[in-house]
Amino acid sequence: MTRHTWHTRAVPGRTLVTQRIEAADVVLRKARDGDRDAIVAHETDVRVRAHLGGAQERATVEQDLDDVGVAAATGSPGAFVIAARSDDAFLGTMSLTRRGAHRPGHISESGEELELSYTLIPALWGRGLAFQAATAVLRAAARELLDEPVIVVTQSANVRSMNLARRLGFTPVLTFDEFGVEQTLWVVDLREFGADVAGT
Ligand SMILES: CC(C)(COP(=O)(O)OP(=O)(O)OC[C@H]1O[C@@H](n2cnc3c(N)ncnc32)[C@H](O)[C@@H]1OP(=O)(O)O)[C@@H](O)C(=O)NCCC(=O)NCCS
Repeated sequence: MTRHTWHTRAVPGRTLVTQRIEAADVVLRKARDGDRDAIVAHETDVRVRAHLGGAQERATVEQDLDDVGVAAATGSPGAFVIAARSDDAFLGTMSLTRRGAHRPGHISESGEELELSYTLIPALWGRGLAFQAATAVLRAAARELLDEPVIVVTQSANVRSMNLARRLGFTPVLTFDEFGVEQTLWVVDLREFGADVAGT
């Protein structure tokens, strides 16, 4: 089948601009004031933050939210909260944004690769919900953007995150040090989530 690309243009720095993505059990949407308490609990959770630099101080998170507003948590294009489709409750975060060239860990000289990141509340780990949310985001991106590599960077010790990347079809291509610990960089081509492949 001929792939139509007239509606997609390679724009440096671009990511998906969709504001809402629906999947079977979860919705990717922008953050709202009603998410504030759940976001504070999430960012101060030692399990969520175990491989992300540690739990943040409650007062710091609250001050940040007060300073910039809850909506700023997902203010960037490609940044979402994961919410329950049943009652819209906050379940976690998911983003497909550009990895800054100043950071270590790249597969191209110019950096700025599309990078997928995810967090889910621990009570819901082990049910495939992060997988479902990530698949929905990558399919939406494959509809909006030209094909390019997408990366996941995760601590090599983060077993659940490594398993999720593998389950999504990513391949580990290199390891490097950031924040004093080994990170693994995973890659998949966005076209793997296109309609012809993903069956959407
Ligand atoms: C990384 C993280 C999002 C993974 O969450 P998760 O729930 O383990 O991930 P998945 O959605 O892929 O779920 C996989 C589990 O659900 C099970 N599952 C059930 N139904 C499933 C389905 N339909 N599809 C896929 N998996 C399913 C799998 O068998 C697997 O079970 P297991 O944990 O017993 O092996 C979560 O551990 C987390 O938030 N960690 C803290 C934040 C973090 O470190 N993020 C990484 C930064 S890049």
